[in-house]
Amino acid sequence: MTKLPRRSLLEGLLALGAAGCAAPEAVTAASDRPEAPADAWQRVRDEFALSPAWIHMASFLLASHPRPVREAIEALRRELDESPPHALEAHEDPAPVREAAAAYMGARAEEIALTGSTTMGLASLYLGLPLRAGDEVLTTVHEHYATHESLRFAAERTGATVRKIALYERSRAATATAMAGAIEAAITPATRAVAITWVHSSTGVKAPVRAIAEVVARANQGRAPGERVVCCVDGVHGFGVEDVTMADLGCDFFSAGCHKWIFGPRGTGVLWGRAELWPTLRPSIPHFGEEGYGAWLRGQPAPPTTANMMSPGGFHDFEHRWALPAAFAFHRRIGKARVADRIHALNRQCKEGLEGMKHVTLHTPLDDAISAGLVCFEVAGMTPAAVVGRLRERKIVASVTPYATRYARVAPSLLNSEADIEAVLREVRALA
Ligand SMILES: Cc1ncc(COP(=O)(O)O)c(C=O)c1O
Repeated sequence: MTKLPRRSLLEGLLALGAAGCAAPEAVTAASDRPEAPADAWQRVRDEFALSPAWIHMASFLLASHPRPVREAIEALRRELDESPPHALEAHEDPAPVREAAAAYMGARAEEIALTGSTTMGLASLYLGLPLRAGDEVLTTVHEHYATHESLRFAAERTGATVRKIALYERSRAATATAMAGAIEAAITPATRAVAITWVHSSTGVKAPVRAIAEVVARANQGRAPGERVVCCVDGVHGFGVEDVTMADLGCDFFSAGCHKWIFGPRGTGVLWGRAELWPTLRPSIPHFGEEGYGAWLRGQPAPPTTANMMSPGGFHDFEHRWALPAAFAFHRRIGKARVADRIHALNRQCKEGLEGMKHVTLHTPLDDAISAGLVCFEVAGMTPAAVVGRLRERKIVASVTPYATRYARVAPSLLNSEADIEAVLREVRALA
């Protein structure tokens, strides 16, 4: 395929019809040469420096930077190396980064704290909640280490307790109604926070955040402000996959690293929260902005907490943080709906293929409504590590779920093609 001029990259995708990746019709690119949708996705892939020697089925672990992000980082690195004070003065206002995140999330800039990872956002959030002895945080057994440990730290400091429930016994039998119902049944008068994960990296199940937020809202009816329950979400494996806004999700707080599905600079993340809830939080790391530092300089008490004050201070790898808008722009140029359609289509192809193999047990639901970009499975007679090892020998990068119950896991993403999925299926079939 003839390479198109750089400025026209992705434009074929922008020109695709509403049916996006599924549309068979060709698009006319800058060269006036019709381009098939598959070529347009190949050009997205071409924006990454990923080794072509491998089929990358674990891209969600840590992003490879696409070209616009690499270029933004390099330009900022040059600025910082030429004169760090000048670069700091030019970029110290976090507004452009917060605005880019807000535009992508369908939120407001003043509702967003900048973090370094999902984990940092979750820890700041859970350690910042106004918990007291006698309060309870309701969470699930499906959470990542980052949520469980942040909650343990928060409980040890405050005397609150943490209760873990199962949203499903078998992931393949999970339903949105049963998951929301399990939360509803477990909320008690002592519950102050519900801590959930949008897409479970243990099973690939996507929790019905909206339905759970509605359950929480119902539980809050008639409660005094200090007794209300907040709905907190580790959103990292839906962020950069699903075409939703924070209002669609309906939760109160949402933490996500931007260095996974968003393809943002490594070491970046966001913590979003409803505007009216930020004053209830207690920061743990001093913020280097006017609200915190300025008050300290003037000898004044710190003002009520804002989202900005929950962005941990100190100096950071600023060339990465300041380059984050390039990643949101990359996604928005492709289109959030098209991204979601593409990832779901590839995951469906993968799950349907695995489902048809007698020696494979698929653990991720087929239903798009309760799954996203992660596919977890087992192969009869093999450990998950052995499965992943065999795939690695065949030049396929997969992963083992880092949980007490381990599965082999692949994550079809924007960096994959239908042919990649066929190759994975062929190799898994050969393990029979
Ligand atoms: C559900 C979930 N939450 C949090 C994390 C950690 O993310 P981060 O590296 O952004 O802290 C992971 C790791 O991949 C994860 O699977």
